Amino acid sequence: MTEQDFAVPLEAPKYYRPDPSYRERSWIGDYQTAYQKFVSDPEAFWKARAAELDWFEPFDEVMQWDFPYARWYLNGKINITYNCLDRHVKNGRANKVALFWRGEEGEEKAYTYSQLLRQVCRLANGLKRIGVKKGDRVCIYMPVIPEQVVAMLACARIGAVHSVVFGGFGVNALNQRIRDSGSRVVITADSSMRRGKAIQLKPIVEEAVVNAPSVETIVVLRRDEPRVELHSEMEVDFEELMENEPHTCEAEVMDAEDPLFLLYTSGTTGAPKGIVHACGGYAVGTQYTTKYVLDVKEDDVYWCTADPGWITGHSYVVYGPLLNGATVFFTESTPDYPDAGIWWKLIRDYGISVFYTAPTAIRMFMRVGEEWPAKYDLSSLRILASVGEPLNPEAFEWFYHHIGGCRCPIVDTWWQTETGMHMITTMVGEPMRPGFAGQPIPGVFADVVDSDGNPVEPGNGGYLVIQQPWPSMLRGVYNNDERYRQYWTTIDSVYTATDLAVKGHDGNIMVIGRADDLIIVAGHNIGTAEVESALVSHEAVAEAAVIGTPDPVKGNQIKAFVILRNGQVGSDRLVSDLRYHVRMTVGPIAMPNEVEFVDSLPKTRSGKIMRRVLRAQELGMDLGDLSTLEE
Ligand code: PRX
Repeated sequence: MTEQDFAVPLEAPKYYRPDPSYRERSWIGDYQTAYQKFVSDPEAFWKARAAELDWFEPFDEVMQWDFPYARWYLNGKINITYNCLDRHVKNGRANKVALFWRGEEGEEKAYTYSQLLRQVCRLANGLKRIGVKKGDRVCIYMPVIPEQVVAMLACARIGAVHSVVFGGFGVNALNQRIRDSGSRVVITADSSMRRGKAIQLKPIVEEAVVNAPSVETIVVLRRDEPRVELHSEMEVDFEELMENEPHTCEAEVMDAEDPLFLLYTSGTTGAPKGIVHACGGYAVGTQYTTKYVLDVKEDDVYWCTADPGWITGHSYVVYGPLLNGATVFFTESTPDYPDAGIWWKLIRDYGISVFYTAPTAIRMFMRVGEEWPAKYDLSSLRILASVGEPLNPEAFEWFYHHIGGCRCPIVDTWWQTETGMHMITTMVGEPMRPGFAGQPIPGVFADVVDSDGNPVEPGNGGYLVIQQPWPSMLRGVYNNDERYRQYWTTIDSVYTATDLAVKGHDGNIMVIGRADDLIIVAGHNIGTAEVESALVSHEAVAEAAVIGTPDPVKGNQIKAFVILRNGQVGSDRLVSDLRYHVRMTVGPIAMPNEVEFVDSLPKTRSGKIMRRVLRAQELGMDLGDLSTLEE
């Protein structure tokens, strides 16, 4: 990022104003009024939000702040699955559909709240039978299928800490995450479906557990016929594990501060960070935001297109919507299979009313053309939402016109794995300014500051920070307290999101991008170091540096600069080999689009690669300050 990236649009702001009925009927009401009410008494605000959940034992205090460690809902006892399931079964939603799932070939599954509760209890009992206890880590590496959600909830039911790993990750990435978390059990499936082909997951797991001594059992859901063999002593069949188990399982009484899950996010050092979320505050934060930000109502059919393997899936496919007793639609299918109309067909067929997706998907659809959505009646849609990277004005306009029928508000939600819940957005019913995510939601104090922590004047850019703790904030980085402290010490006493942003004169915030060595490709955070170490692990490579270059659909793509070992010669064949190598070790999302062989890399005198220089060179920009360059 350079100074030029901070250019504030000079033209007069253009707003889109939803019909006033949206604000009148929304849970939040008028944004300013709601925000002022929060500011006047933050504690009362978060106490009231917590009261929307069922607690086994009430908390004594809303929050204790011992910088930089916050504890929320002290001594409160809760189980998130009790709130996601039992509560609704008891309160008249037993036969309401909780999950609608659709496979690539059109196969369907539906679970009512009472059916989902029973499945979760059976798997929870099965996990107990193989020795899983409260506090144990369980790795879930599965495709987007109902069993993935059941597995998450079954862990939470018994107090086991789930660590879901996105099913698109390769051997190394999975191995690192299993080892760091010390998972005792890995729950997986034989395969996942992608564009009509079964992608084998089990061989990846087999390789990934080789030097992961903590793993005692691998639970395998077998989808394919004929069924794959379970050969090792360690392997257990998913369905057999549940088969004879009782349909009830008492929800473990969890302290509000007990860990609920770990979720790894790319770091700048190569080692992914295990972000720790706690039971009580996470439940409150996701329940609140699903209801008040996405404005989910009793009759909505809600679809968030994220994979439950990412934080968006955790918070807004699984926990948030189920806490609200919503009907959740989700699918294993990719957006363009069998054709680019599939998502719009699904919206029509299932009557989706709240639709939450990512800018990269919107840009992909823009490219294939509006004739695809035009074929389908999308009038069931009520609210659109976006997450993962900046929603650029062109994508906003397209989404607004061609999907939302110039009727639906677009809720652009800024947040992170670390924040657990939405932080900045434009609330339903408020004027929307394309390109700007919006303002802090009630419950959040956020601002754009300079490197000393002073708020920038409107019209200027700086770092996006959160100034006070919030209930669903990360409680730590697993096994790495120093890294956790960095979030709060990089800029004195505030949480640094490591995003660059601009504050508009109207108070709206435009998020520009990362201030560190993460590249966001199609909404996924990729650590440059992770890709570089994968490249260097190839026998032909001596050194490597990767940068993000702009891509019209994916936001960024990855370009690698590679120095070969003596005696190795660059060739097209080697380029494909290297790309394949990254694909297998980190995963397809991290595969470089381009590989260039070079003789040297720009470095600082201390030997740190100056990716900024590579990027400027690549994009024909000013090289900036080169005083620390080695030569
Ligand atoms: O750079 C921001 C970008 O995604 C980062 C967080 O990535 P992750 O932890 O994987 O979580 C993604 C889903 C919450 C942020 O630091 N980001 C996320 N949402 C937005 C965004 N950038 C701009 N606008 C957004 N709405």
